Amino acid sequence: MSTGKYLTPIVGGLLSSLLVLGCGEETRTSPDETQTTPYSPPSEQLEEDPAALTPEPTDASSIFLAGSKGVGDPYFPNLGNGGYDVTRYLIQVTWTPSSLTLRGSTTIEAETTDNLSSFNVDLNPNMHVSSVTVNGDAADFTRESSEIIVKPVSNLPAGSEFQARFTYNGEPGMSLLENAPFDGGWFNQLSDTAEDFSCSSCGTYVYGEPSSSMAWHPVNDHPSDRAQFRIEMSVKMDPSQLWNNPDWEFVTNGFLIDKRKAENGMTTWIYETKYPRAPYLTTLAFGSFVEFEEANLGDVQLRHWAQSPPLPVDIFEVDFFGFDYRSMFEVFTDLFGPYPFDTYGYLVINEDLGLALETQTLSIFGYDAFQQPGVHVHELAHQWFGNHITLDNWSEIWLNEGFATYSQFLYEEAVNPDYDIYYAMRNVVSAFEDEEQLLNKVPPGDPGPEDLFSASVYFRGALTLHALRIEIGDEVFFASLRKYVEDFGGKNVTTSDFIETVEGVSGEDLEDFFNRWLYDLEMPTLPLASN
Ligand code: TRP
Ligand code: ZN
Repeated sequence: MSTGKYLTPIVGGLLSSLLVLGCGEETRTSPDETQTTPYSPPSEQLEEDPAALTPEPTDASSIFLAGSKGVGDPYFPNLGNGGYDVTRYLIQVTWTPSSLTLRGSTTIEAETTDNLSSFNVDLNPNMHVSSVTVNGDAADFTRESSEIIVKPVSNLPAGSEFQARFTYNGEPGMSLLENAPFDGGWFNQLSDTAEDFSCSSCGTYVYGEPSSSMAWHPVNDHPSDRAQFRIEMSVKMDPSQLWNNPDWEFVTNGFLIDKRKAENGMTTWIYETKYPRAPYLTTLAFGSFVEFEEANLGDVQLRHWAQSPPLPVDIFEVDFFGFDYRSMFEVFTDLFGPYPFDTYGYLVINEDLGLALETQTLSIFGYDAFQQPGVHVHELAHQWFGNHITLDNWSEIWLNEGFATYSQFLYEEAVNPDYDIYYAMRNVVSAFEDEEQLLNKVPPGDPGPEDLFSASVYFRGALTLHALRIEIGDEVFFASLRKYVEDFGGKNVTTSDFIETVEGVSGEDLEDFFNRWLYDLEMPTLPLASN
């Protein structure tokens, strides 16, 4: 896979070395607000739609238009779709490891937000769709790159519920996304060595940000549309094949509610979520995964998975690597409020991916990132910032990465009495002065699609929060963080939501402060701390 310009060193090394150095009401803009111009030219619609041709009545309720092919994201205009909101995905698929193919169906349960004569769904072109039904009736559909355009037999009035079922098959690969900073999607591990007869590392896994889901199922692939998921995965455990190991497991987010073995060797796993999630926060894996249950932390169930063959050390010996989930949960609960879900765990792939991703309630780690305690802290913090509070659109990425990165420093500050966070943050600034002024090249509040995960988004984002803390004082700063989580948990946010929260708590006008830190090219000087 290709890796990004900055993320590998950041997650792989820089983060942890910087930490050591220091040691010492729904605000989401709905599609119809962002997308005032429908995707299809209105003239086309008028021809297609006799109701719209009629000069009267002219009230909006009688006009049905095509849903737009994007939700209006400024960085990834084709991600997501206009005119509806998904409530739940019901995914029933069969994976065939010998041919690397996936087949089955996905049913999208949704509610329209506009009068729709047709609507779009995202799915990679290599996944072949054989049929679509809407509310049980066969629907016409066409394909255009990673869009499926569905034309139901009857128009769908705004505010109505509908079910669209897609039957499809294909060889899933990477999400097809223009300007993507990374490859995301469906990854297959193929055995490196001919001697590896057991093929114990021939697993499969899915992850990617900003997109991975459309690589394998029809989806409204945008963080602004969070939904429930039920995933039913079947694999035929064929005794003549390498993956015939009764211990191989399928793992995904949420709870395993059933695992069935049919007479023909087909095993089916059924997982359901309790909390809606953005589609990019889905992960899954099939292979030689073993489970490890840690003692519950209060109401939170800890459940980890790792791919065997046994990694160089027992990864479930959590003390070995020096990360301690109990203290992470304690610190973050104290700072941000209760953990927003009821289960958490890591999913470790036996590969040096150079990164981790905060997939909801089950963060996925490459084996290298797994060994960095700071990355565990970072991915856990994302469960609040990114997963519970979700982005309105991808230009707001610093609200995820800046917060998760500063959380790492906050964690160190909380658990280590000798840690000087002011010293640590000054060190971040000087570390980047040697790094060709990286923080002065990309404004974290609007980094552009290709620099979505640049060092500036992570570290200048974190410095923005630190500077804010110095500016308004600890008490107001931490009260603002808690209020932000309280007010926007379960919702989609923009930077102005955060600014308004802080202004409300502090009573200060912070527009100029945030403009300089987030949107100027040149990074401001860190204010002097009074501590
Ligand atoms: N959000 C991830 C983190 O900070 C990093 C990330 C961005 C990523 N894009 C990705 C990881 C794609 C895996 C794949 O932890
Ligand atoms: Zn992150």
